[in-house]
Amino acid sequence: MEVVILADEREVGAFAAGRIASMIDKHPATVLGVATGSSPQQTYRVLAEQVDAGLDVSRVSAFALDEYVGLSRDHPQSYHQVIAETVTEPLGLDPSRVHVPDGMALDLDAACADYEDRIAAAGGIDLQLLGIGANGHIGFNEPTSSLASRTRVKTLTARTRADNARFFDDPDQVPRQCLTQGLATILDAHTTVLVATGTAKARAIARIVEGPVQALWPGSVLQLHRRATVVVDEAAAAELELADYYRYTDSQRRLREAERRTD
Ligand code: F6R
Repeated sequence: MEVVILADEREVGAFAAGRIASMIDKHPATVLGVATGSSPQQTYRVLAEQVDAGLDVSRVSAFALDEYVGLSRDHPQSYHQVIAETVTEPLGLDPSRVHVPDGMALDLDAACADYEDRIAAAGGIDLQLLGIGANGHIGFNEPTSSLASRTRVKTLTARTRADNARFFDDPDQVPRQCLTQGLATILDAHTTVLVATGTAKARAIARIVEGPVQALWPGSVLQLHRRATVVVDEAAAAELELADYYRYTDSQRRLREAERRTD
């Protein structure tokens, strides 16, 4: 894993947006995997600035990680709505190229299978942007999710429902189930970039980066990915044992990049 420790949320967002923008520069028809929640919002803001500055996203498509079961598409907290407001509209993506699992489908299993088919038909996800739950979930793959899981229905933990209650008027309104890309679906992405900020994420970050690969900390599955980057601020890095080593390797990477620019 590549671990990048930066000062604060602004730097984390700028770094992740930079990785996404350089992929789109090289591959204009990039297929992005997009997350909801607080963590990626700064990344989307910086990316929107880059689009304003001329980054061409006309051929980019996007797949959301997850959706609540039972919230209509126009519910303000449905991920259809959240992705439209925070990704599709500010970035100016073509809405017909933006996909979110259908949490209102009569046959949820069929909707999950269809989502996997749509990802495959798009040629797979080139870059998957991820946040992480305080309990180590990525997407909504809660602790003890199968490391081989594909898109499916999951039941949210009490911890996740409590964490997400801030987005709802009443904690009881937080749905109990969701559709989420599976851990194996996420591992299929060509590149993954996970962003995390704040002390509430420090334990999860230490577990998934330095602990064993285990279903109890689902994000640890990224240790099996060949191109996984974890970008954190100092607060989220607080429990990493090898933080100094990551800072050193990152300074070496920056040196190499600077040398390439002056070649
Ligand atoms: C959201 C998602 C989740 C969030 C995680 C962190 O689509 O897949 O894994 O990334 O719950 O949420 P925030 O960023 O709000 O702390």
